[in-house]
Amino acid sequence: MNQDLSQPSTAQQPSTWSQRFESALHPAIARFNASIGFDMKLIEYDLTGSQAHAQMLAHTGIISAAEGEQLVNGLEQVRQEYRQGLFVPGVEAEDVHFAVERRLTEIVGDVGKKLHTARSRNDQVGTDTRLYLRDQIQQIRQRVRSFQSILLTLAEQHVETLIPGYTHLQRAQPLSLAHHLLAYFEMSQRDWERLGEIYQRVNVSPLGSGALAGTTFPIDRHYTAELLNFGGVYANSLDGVSDRDFAIEFLCAASLIMVHLSRLSEEVILWASEEFGFVTLKDSCSTGSSIMPQKKNPDVPELVRGKTGRVFGHLQGMLVLMKGLPLAYNKDLQEDKEALFDAVVTVQGCLEAMTILLQEGLEFRVARLQEAVNEDFSNATDVADYLAGKGVPFREAYNLVGKVVKTSLSQGKLLKDLTLEEWKALHPAFESDIYGAIAPAQVVSARNSYGGTGFAQVRQALQNAKAIVP
Ligand code: ARG
Repeated sequence: MNQDLSQPSTAQQPSTWSQRFESALHPAIARFNASIGFDMKLIEYDLTGSQAHAQMLAHTGIISAAEGEQLVNGLEQVRQEYRQGLFVPGVEAEDVHFAVERRLTEIVGDVGKKLHTARSRNDQVGTDTRLYLRDQIQQIRQRVRSFQSILLTLAEQHVETLIPGYTHLQRAQPLSLAHHLLAYFEMSQRDWERLGEIYQRVNVSPLGSGALAGTTFPIDRHYTAELLNFGGVYANSLDGVSDRDFAIEFLCAASLIMVHLSRLSEEVILWASEEFGFVTLKDSCSTGSSIMPQKKNPDVPELVRGKTGRVFGHLQGMLVLMKGLPLAYNKDLQEDKEALFDAVVTVQGCLEAMTILLQEGLEFRVARLQEAVNEDFSNATDVADYLAGKGVPFREAYNLVGKVVKTSLSQGKLLKDLTLEEWKALHPAFESDIYGAIAPAQVVSARNSYGGTGFAQVRQALQNAKAIVP
């Protein structure tokens, strides 16, 4: 398309488009069509990408060195104006790309009209989006690191703090609280790694793909890719302008981060309830009720859990956006941006909020946790293991302990309340060391298999984690 940028353009004038257009867009359609309302978020990347493109045009002799310099400097001036709040284009600009080109041309004159030589907004917007996402991925990885770091601090404090472990949300076996926290460390380590892997595929340059077919000019795509620190270039121009796999992959990674944060949120919400009472929420991270004066609400984890749905929605939206698109660029692709931007902001915000929540927003009620692990049958497996250790086949031992639990429950007793006579009546293999074997600390400590909750394992796991996040 041959844009005439010399006339002041408004939505009412057909000046953005080639002479083929005789009348202007309907104002409502202009608003409907415009992405300037959200794609200004890309402006810094658009300027950087355009500067690289201008340098390449000069480098390859498509424009003169002096023209290249004028373009690069003019774009730099647009950047300064933007940073000072002086460049605020309206809907008449349609999108950030037109807005920048128009302002550039106002600044540098006719040479500004050369910037778009051998380029289309299609490869341009793809370049901008990748540059943006590349930055965001690095920032999110940093936030994942901060989150991991507070998990490790807490884990270090709570190796020997016990917490009931659950399956089916039924008391199962007691755990080291550090072990529980380190499970989240592992999940977020995968998140960190996954983002790094995706980064490799985000970091590929589509610039120079043109509208869809490449260009007649002797451009150097590797030159722009190098200037922009891309790891490679798209090998196929059609794929270059129409691929959004990288955005979908990012939204997958973002969704998994949210899954992990949401599971932790759900646990914190349960733990903060009176029924569990495992944590106290501090005032800095909880809110009250407008009517019930006794309440302290876990708004932070609830919001994180709620926002998780939003990010999943963006992933779903993007998949559906792509599934029926014929090659190559279609305007539908303009819809990728808000999904990405919102997912980025949401994930960043949730990681930050959860990090603060763990840092200063909650306190584990260690005494209450200790009480909790002492008042249940979560040591029942250990009685069976005890007998199995003395040669009783495990299944036989398991059945016997089932019976003990049943009778103890009916008598309102716990396993630790049984007398040695009672134990011996159940099975002659029981000795007085049964009491030690079913004490919660021993129960936890004894699960020393690799990756288990035994304190020695947990200390080793902590050490391994600290080698990753010192
Ligand atoms: N604003 C557009 C987008 O976000 C830029 C690319 C427009 N390309 C086109 N052929 N209309 O996708």
